[in-house]
Amino acid sequence: MRLSVIGCGYLGAVHAASMAQLGHEVIGIDVDLKKVDALRAGRAPFYEPGLPELLTEVGATGRLTFSTDIADAAGADVHFICVGTPQVHGEFRADLTFVNAAVEALVPHLRPGDVVAGKSTVPVGTAEAIAEAISATGAVLVWNPEFLREGFAVEDTLHPDRLVYGLPTDDDGEPTAEGSKARSVLDEVYATPLSEDTPLVVTDYATAQLVKVAANSFLATKISFINAMAELCESTGADVTRLADAIGYDARIGRRFLNAGLGFGGGCLPKDIRAFMARAGELGVSDALSFLREVDSINMRRRVRMVDLAREVCHGSIVGKRIAVLGAAFKPDSDDVRDSPALSVAAQMQLQGAHVTVTDPQAVANARAKWPDLHFADTALEAAKDADVVLLATEWTEYCEIEPDALAAVVAHRRILDGRNVLKPAHWRAAGWTYRALGRP
Ligand code: UGA
Repeated sequence: MRLSVIGCGYLGAVHAASMAQLGHEVIGIDVDLKKVDALRAGRAPFYEPGLPELLTEVGATGRLTFSTDIADAAGADVHFICVGTPQVHGEFRADLTFVNAAVEALVPHLRPGDVVAGKSTVPVGTAEAIAEAISATGAVLVWNPEFLREGFAVEDTLHPDRLVYGLPTDDDGEPTAEGSKARSVLDEVYATPLSEDTPLVVTDYATAQLVKVAANSFLATKISFINAMAELCESTGADVTRLADAIGYDARIGRRFLNAGLGFGGGCLPKDIRAFMARAGELGVSDALSFLREVDSINMRRRVRMVDLAREVCHGSIVGKRIAVLGAAFKPDSDDVRDSPALSVAAQMQLQGAHVTVTDPQAVANARAKWPDLHFADTALEAAKDADVVLLATEWTEYCEIEPDALAAVVAHRRILDGRNVLKPAHWRAAGWTYRALGRP
């Protein structure tokens, strides 16, 4: 099939390459010429494991092209909207500028029967407005949210754990005739994952939009729940990692996403729960989501607590102390520093008078662009040179596997803060380190 993918960021670039891999002819559109140039040259504009290989592989087939001109999307059977929906500056709600601009630019190129598939994370009600905006063209909107995780984006796109189609429905809630036709078109797009028995949920616009934010809210809640338990553990001497193991054996709870530590960040979870709260307020049901305010607060408190912990191990003050921060990305296997807990803590400590040196296998350039006043190093050992405290803030494998003796050879004081609860305390203590973590004795 011929597909266009509008917006080539973390979501769109991976989606475009993956769809070409599935055998479709794909044109990726982005307003950023630098991004388009990189993708045209087969280079990923950001770090995502597997994407460079995928770009090379599909690049050779000639099925994947890129353009800055939306007119090049004309003629595609399906147009995927993959642009960002950041948080509005100083407010909770989502900024729909990019979505609206993409739709407006696309409209003149739509033909009757074309399918527009919305993938961006939007406040419920947006799909209905887009359907209205494109209705005169005879194109049909399907809401088709994306659930990929950064770091696993290629795998998640090629082998999704579920597909969701939000279709236009009639008064009985059944898909309209044009909705059913659009569904068949998407079934063809996703023929390969569907043949692998990927569960498919077919529903209406509102449900499809809510699925996405509900999923992210649940994940955020799960993380904040365990971080709230960490607060309890801190005041009772209990160990949150053992607690998570024990409750996680209950299949109804499950161990995944119960890792206590610096909490969640990134370009999705934090802004999605805030946009969801804002939308609930507009809909007059803010009470339904008031718990998300607490989820957000628990999450942000962990960052403050980590700075306090640094102060504690430095006997009351971090002023003038050298602190090495291992990790700047919001999670491992990513170069994304949007709302990164690691970087936020590093910046806070620097603002409070510490001399902070940050390192990260992939995210140093992005981190430096955001916080140029921090100091940066290429490796953990370089960052930790003469450090009074070392903070493991993002659980890259190489930091999890670091040997206490190797680090001990370069630091000024053996003090390690485990921001992600990934190190073995006994191992570090046996090597003469002061080990502290969030939610662990
Ligand atoms: C998240 C969702 O997991 C995806 O399903 C969704 O598609 C995506 O947002 C999106 O909306 O596009 P992502 O932001 O890539 O994916 O990252 P996650 O793996 O969810 O991690 C989010 C944050 O939570 C990270 O900062 C991570 O360190 C933190 N986290 C995760 C914890 O603190 N504890 C955990 O147990 C798990």
